[in-house]
Amino acid sequence: MNYKQNLDHKIFKIVSQAAKELNLECYVIGGFVRDLLLNRNHKKDIDIVAVGSGIELALKVSELIPNQPKVQVFKNYGTAMLRFNDMDIEFVGARKESYTYDSRNPIVENGTLKDDQERRDFTINALALSLNEETFGTLIDPFNGVTDLHNKIIRTPLDSDITYSDDPLRMLRAIRFASQLHFEIEIKSLQAISRNKERINIISGERIVDELNKILLSEKPSIGFLLLYETGLLDILLPELTALNQVEEIEGHTHKNNFYHSLEVVDNICPNTDDVWLRWAALLHDIGKAPTKKFNKKQGWTFHGHEFLGGKMVKKIFERLHMPLNQKMKFVQKMVTMSSRPIVLAQDIVTDSAVRRLVFDAGEEVENLMTLCEADITTKNPKKFNKYHHNFKIVRQKIVEVEERDHVRNFQPPISGEEIMELFGLKPCREIGTLKEAVKEAILEGEIPNEYEAALAFILKRAEKMGLQKV
Ligand code: CTP
Repeated sequence: MNYKQNLDHKIFKIVSQAAKELNLECYVIGGFVRDLLLNRNHKKDIDIVAVGSGIELALKVSELIPNQPKVQVFKNYGTAMLRFNDMDIEFVGARKESYTYDSRNPIVENGTLKDDQERRDFTINALALSLNEETFGTLIDPFNGVTDLHNKIIRTPLDSDITYSDDPLRMLRAIRFASQLHFEIEIKSLQAISRNKERINIISGERIVDELNKILLSEKPSIGFLLLYETGLLDILLPELTALNQVEEIEGHTHKNNFYHSLEVVDNICPNTDDVWLRWAALLHDIGKAPTKKFNKKQGWTFHGHEFLGGKMVKKIFERLHMPLNQKMKFVQKMVTMSSRPIVLAQDIVTDSAVRRLVFDAGEEVENLMTLCEADITTKNPKKFNKYHHNFKIVRQKIVEVEERDHVRNFQPPISGEEIMELFGLKPCREIGTLKEAVKEAILEGEIPNEYEAALAFILKRAEKMGLQKV
């Protein structure tokens, strides 16, 4: 097959010219070719492999571009990169690689194109298109990657144990591609992942999380998480989650399997958010349930305080996986900690004051919290399903109404502590806090509107009861 017409971007002509001047062969390879053949959105980065020095080729390419973009050279890896328009073009020399057992740093030897292709992760990522003048656009596919693309199969070019052991991150990449592309992983490959799962421990948390994020951002993340579970990787990476995979029965009482429930919640939330952190929250919202689970005769199974404990566990997970410990983590914690709040509302009559409290506590995140809680409805009882969704609709309406009227979303006390001190001639003392708290409570309960005059009248009355004199 020839794909000449698909290589109409200027950069390919320039690379071809540079290769000719240096008298070396070069090819575009990897994700760009895969996505081109899949008719998938073209990636913003392009990988070029040269049979010879990738660095020299990059420098020559830069010379041929009018503004001569800067070439970033990574000598240790034998690679170089430059930006052209809005694309990153990466250059590497074809290599025959073998990896040392305890690290990702390969011992590199120069090789042929085929050597290079067979050292890549999957047949669908080993496809190359020629950029050489006489064969420009010709597909070079020694491992039948096109057939695998067609059959939707993830397969390694070499024996899978070698491919995964060379670079254990590839185990996650296999699962990530399966999840992103709705492909299946070849059975031999899947078994090799199970066998090599412990090797994931040599990979840095950041690179692992990159892949987990990509799985979470796929259309149906449960595909990826079930594969992670099946291969044993999930037990290593997120044991808090696999701990939820159990159903116990005591005296005829069972509880739901919270592992499969969590995966359902993640899938449910996907059409409603592209925010990877909200998707993390969906995945982790029940992790406190395994350690808090108890059975008692009166109530059956309980998980008291699981939301609070879950919030604490989020921090431990983020630390362990070297995830950001910033606002993003706080957001996930907040969502997990508050994850049962709207559910209680949806089961009962929705009162204004309950909604006001929810908005007050969730603040700016109240819509995200609602999105999470709607996704959390996985009951198979259609009556309950409809009732909860209906009640959540009412909650959402009330959130808007209450907010328009009472502005508690970013609650600022209508009367400041300083003003209370002035009113009653007080120095800083406990009574000021008590009065401020009482005003806040009165507003949230709907006893008074969130307005200055009403708050002042309320404070004067309450202060009198407390024996405070206005000065
Ligand atoms: N590759 C590999 N082993 C890895 C990572 C990458 O063999 N652990 C090879 C594959 O041929 C891959 C190419 O390097 O196609 C480029 O890698 P990368 O840009 O990370 O991934 P893409 O396949 O391009 O896909 P995506 O951008 O979706 O990650």
